Amino acid sequence: MIGDIRERIEKLKKEKDFCILAHCYQSDDIIEAADFTGDSFALAKKAAGSPNKNVIMCGVRFMAETVKILSPEKRVFLPRGEAGCPMAEQLDTAMLSQLKEKYADHAVVCYINTTAELKTLCDVCVTSSSAVGIIGKMDAKKILFIPDCNLGDYVSKKLPEKEFKLINGGCPTHARLTVSDVKAAKAAHPNALVLMHPECRPELIAYADYVGSTKGIMDFARDSDNKEFIIATEISIAAHLGITYPEKLFYPISKDCICHNMRVTCLADVLHCMEGTDGEEVDLSPDVIKGARRCIDEMLRLG
Ligand code: 13P
Ligand code: SF4
Repeated sequence: MIGDIRERIEKLKKEKDFCILAHCYQSDDIIEAADFTGDSFALAKKAAGSPNKNVIMCGVRFMAETVKILSPEKRVFLPRGEAGCPMAEQLDTAMLSQLKEKYADHAVVCYINTTAELKTLCDVCVTSSSAVGIIGKMDAKKILFIPDCNLGDYVSKKLPEKEFKLINGGCPTHARLTVSDVKAAKAAHPNALVLMHPECRPELIAYADYVGSTKGIMDFARDSDNKEFIIATEISIAAHLGITYPEKLFYPISKDCICHNMRVTCLADVLHCMEGTDGEEVDLSPDVIKGARRCIDEMLRLG
C-alpha cells in the first residue's frame, strides 16, 4: 500500500515537475519520499536552487510561506491547509504595530517562525541557529525580539551587551517541558548527554550539555563520542537519530513533546496534493513577498 503511494508520488514528481520538502519533524515515510530534508530556512534555500516549478512543503504554513518568499515564481503547496504553527501566529500585524510604537527606539528582530505578514514589519529575521551571531552583528543596542521569549532569553544571555525586550510568546511544544521532565530523564539515563532546543524554558537550559537548533542537535549527536543522549526537542528527532545512528541510544525527554501541527500531514496527503484533489496553494501578495524578503535578505547580509 505504502509502496503504491510512493510509486505514484515518484511518477507525479516527474510528470508535474514537483520538488518535495520535508521538515525534520515529519514522519519517516515523508522524509523518505522527500527530495530535501532539513530546517525551514535550509529547505527554502534548497527549493530556490531546485529547477522544479512546483514545491510541496511538508511542514507548517510559515515554512511554505518562506519557500514562496524566496521563490515567488514557483507554485508552493501545503498538503494540509490546517497545518499552522501556533507560535508563528501568536501575534498579528496590529499587535506588532502597537509594540513597535511602544518600543520605537528598538530594532525589531523576528524568529523565522513567524507569518510572512509579520516579517514585513520587522528589521531582520533569524533562525534558532543564527540568532546569536546575527543579533550580535547588528548596530542596534536595543532589540525587540518576537515571538519566542525562551529563544529570546537564551540569546539575550549570550549577548549581555544588548538590551532585549521580550514578549510573552513561544512554542507550546517546547514550553510544555518541565524541570521534572529533565530530572526524570537524567535519573533514568545517568550516562546520557542532554541535547536541548533553545525554545525550551530558561530554567531547563541549565540542565543541558548542549543547546542548539534541530540541525545543531543532530550534528552534535553525530559527532559526539558519547553513546547515549536525552533529546530535549520534538519527539520525532530522537526517533530519526535512532534510525540514522543505530549504534547510539536516543531517549526523548518526554512522550508529550509532540508538535501535533507537524503530525497532521501523512504520505497520502502529499499524493493527493500532487494529484490536485487536496491541499492548499500558498499565495502571498507581491507587497508581502517584497516586505518579508527584505527582512530575510537582512539576515543573509548579516549572516
Ligand atoms: P529549527 O528546526 O529551526 O531548530 O526549529 C524548530 C522548530 O520548532 C521548527 O518548527
Ligand atoms: Fe511551531 Fe513549535 Fe510546532 Fe515548531 S514545534 S511548528 S515552533 S508549534
